[in-house]
Amino acid sequence: MSKAERKDELGRKDYEDALDAMQGELTAMAGWASQCGARILVILEGRDTAGKTGAIHAISQKLNPRQVRTVALPAPTDREKTQWYFQRYVPHLPAAGEIVLFDRSWYNRAGVERVMGFATDEQVEAFLEAAPKFERMLVDDGLLLFKYWLTCDQEEQEERLAERHEDPSKQWKISPIDVAARGKYRDYTKAREAMLEATHTKHAPWTLVDFNDQRRGRLTLVRDLLDRLPVGPVEQKVPPLPPLDEP
Ligand code: ADP
Ligand code: MLT
Repeated sequence: MSKAERKDELGRKDYEDALDAMQGELTAMAGWASQCGARILVILEGRDTAGKTGAIHAISQKLNPRQVRTVALPAPTDREKTQWYFQRYVPHLPAAGEIVLFDRSWYNRAGVERVMGFATDEQVEAFLEAAPKFERMLVDDGLLLFKYWLTCDQEEQEERLAERHEDPSKQWKISPIDVAARGKYRDYTKAREAMLEATHTKHAPWTLVDFNDQRRGRLTLVRDLLDRLPVGPVEQKVPPLPPLDEP
């Protein structure tokens, strides 16, 4: 019995068929976003190995790369550390018709920065108070903001880390932070609870998605995103192909 069967994971074929249909809907959604000038920001957060990168790939794979982009910022530079905390994220926010996918986000301050000691308690507290206000300004300005938290059990996370360790094609995914964070599962749980408590607001709620089965997780997330977007009818603008010149 394969690992996928043992765990009752969704099979590849069923997954690909379902995703294919949803990617068609995503394309229609992107057409709608271009036409009406919607600005869409999707934040993906979750524990190490939760599956943020795969989820982002599922969303963006079939879309126009000029319209959709992923933002995965590196650790802040010394100069950035002196700026207003949200400042380095602001230039990446979407303009009209754009879909931006944040692979981690300003929520780093409430998660990895808190747990790994990159931010002081005061900075974390200030962030938890400021984030809902900051998001309120974005939403009031018309930005469509979606926040997803990908959940993954400790046992599953351990298995994925071990897999990455053994597979040379996956070793690049293991960072020094992942290694240091390994013994801190409970600290991350506590940090997440505090974060949800402070930042799950009416104007910018979190949606938790079970990613213990990555394929089911991706389908659930994409379905939810499509259902939340107020997609209207799209005027077809494909130019008709002119007849070929006679040779
Ligand atoms: P990922 O898991 O996203 O591939 P890492 O495990 O290397 O990346 O790092 C996790 C997060 O921690 C990243 O968003 C990174 O920018 C952040 N990070 C790493 N070092 C620092 C630091 N010194 N201060 C603040 N954030 C940091
Ligand atoms: C993810 O997609 O969640 C990644 O695997 C990131 C990580 O390992 O931290």
